[in-house]
Amino acid sequence: MPSYAFFHNEFVPLEEANLGVMTNFFHYGTGVFEGIRGNWNGEKQRIYLFCLKEHYQRLQRGCRILKIDLPYNIDELCRITVELVTKCGFKEDIYIRPLAYKSSETLGVRLHDLESDFLAFAFPWGPYLPEKARCCISSWRFPGEVPREKLTGLYVTNALAKTEAADNGFDEAIMLTTDGYVAEGSGENLFLVKDSQLVTPASYDGILMGITRDKVMALAEAELGIKTTERHVDRIELYTADECFLTGTAAHITPVAEIDRRRIGNGEIGEVTKRLQQIYFNVIRGNNPKYLSWCTPADKKTPVTEV
Ligand SMILES: Cc1ncc(COP(=O)(O)O)c(C=O)c1O
Repeated sequence: MPSYAFFHNEFVPLEEANLGVMTNFFHYGTGVFEGIRGNWNGEKQRIYLFCLKEHYQRLQRGCRILKIDLPYNIDELCRITVELVTKCGFKEDIYIRPLAYKSSETLGVRLHDLESDFLAFAFPWGPYLPEKARCCISSWRFPGEVPREKLTGLYVTNALAKTEAADNGFDEAIMLTTDGYVAEGSGENLFLVKDSQLVTPASYDGILMGITRDKVMALAEAELGIKTTERHVDRIELYTADECFLTGTAAHITPVAEIDRRRIGNGEIGEVTKRLQQIYFNVIRGNNPKYLSWCTPADKKTPVTEV
């Protein structure tokens, strides 16, 4: 099935959306990206975009940091995304990659005196991690003193961590802060279950404030009566947790079976993790009327003005 991109203010076939080799963004990582999931609901025959607005709010924050003048406001970005997904017409789970970037074909390390542009494309994407992930603590630490939005240039540390993990036979890397506290996975936030309560690293641990993290905390409290404590987490606490799972747009809720070759719990999907997964997967596919406001349907049945 052909895919499309929103590129230079119009919808074009994906293969026609190409950037020039001198584009500033390529050379210095001067871009801000997002990852948005479109979840296919077979019964309703439609795709639901999860937390569309929140993703563009975060993109906007990143653009402020990098002095990128977004040519569209948040409502326009949401409408562009719905139109893009509708045009693609996929009938399966998809991933949308919006990118705001310094588009001038000019070299020189700076943020000023450069033009900005925005693009987005969508493609089918199934599970990002295995059903149960085997993780290791990375030797790569996320540098402190840098802003934690989705700035493309910052992801080189995450890429180093992920490949180190893969080279050593693991599915995912867990990065520590420069102080040695647990931060997050290369593309996910992390939760522990301890005595039936949830614990997760706090914003002061330099993590990306994940949208899935936020929604999982809300669902745990509202649906299971489980509160989450946001605090420093020691590496050793990971080894003795009752359960551990990762959250992220790509990874959804992925149980962690093993960390540094130590089994977490009994190595199977824990009870709390399982219940949260069930609730979450229902919500993101638009099957729970209580949380429909988190989901934007993207198809010809959605009047673009309602997005
Ligand atoms: C480093 C990192 N942490 C956490 C997350 C999870 O964030 P979200 O749930 O908003 O996708 C992501 C993915 O976007 C990420 O790249």
